[in-house]
Amino acid sequence: MDETYQRFAERYAAGPVPWDNPEPPPEVIALTAVLPPGRALDLGCGYGRTTVYLAQHGWLVDGVDFISQAIAGARQRAAAAGVSEKATFYEASVTELGFLPGRYQLAIDVGCLHALAEPQRGAYRAELTRLLEPGATYLLFARLGARDGEEGPRGIEETAVLSLFTADFTLEKSEIGVTHVEDKSWQSGWFWFRRQNK
Ligand SMILES: C[S@@+](CC[C@H](N)C(=O)[O-])C[C@H]1O[C@@H](n2cnc3c(N)ncnc32)[C@H](O)[C@@H]1O
Repeated sequence: MDETYQRFAERYAAGPVPWDNPEPPPEVIALTAVLPPGRALDLGCGYGRTTVYLAQHGWLVDGVDFISQAIAGARQRAAAAGVSEKATFYEASVTELGFLPGRYQLAIDVGCLHALAEPQRGAYRAELTRLLEPGATYLLFARLGARDGEEGPRGIEETAVLSLFTADFTLEKSEIGVTHVEDKSWQSGWFWFRRQNK
């Protein structure tokens, strides 16, 4: 198993995870308030807060995470919210999504891409590009910069985010800020991309 998987498996097994609030981030709520419901993909869905929220708001959503404990918790959350028929969860890596046929109008990644090692990013981009229909929205939240051995997500340079998606996506907006998790603070960014019509 790779180091990232081990780190997340241990983090989930250790107890409550710091990113799991009852609701998705305000950026997710604001975006989906202005989009007509369709099919959505939640990349690195964790305990499913975004997947379940979208399902409650009329979307058909697929959530993917490689940690079985996260997927089990997400299914329970969907059942408790009465949206199991609209929210489907898969235990899988976001770099190997060949079992999903697509096509989605929306993909959301809150904190997954920045956990991938550099060689895995191309596979993630290829799957995302294949699965999103032209004109679809891709919303990404990532820790920016590199981690230098400290605790927390690996991180990704802003320039790497932009160059990763430049061939197939148009960046419509980005917001760079600081995220506080427990007693740590790190630079982070929200990126609103649109899948190009090609
Ligand atoms: C910071 S958590 C955020 C979870 C969720 N998006 C949320 O906002 O509550 C990142 C998630 O990405 C998942 N993850 C990281 N790398 C992954 C990969 N290669 N494939 C699938 N899931 C992955 C982790 O297991 C974890 O649940």
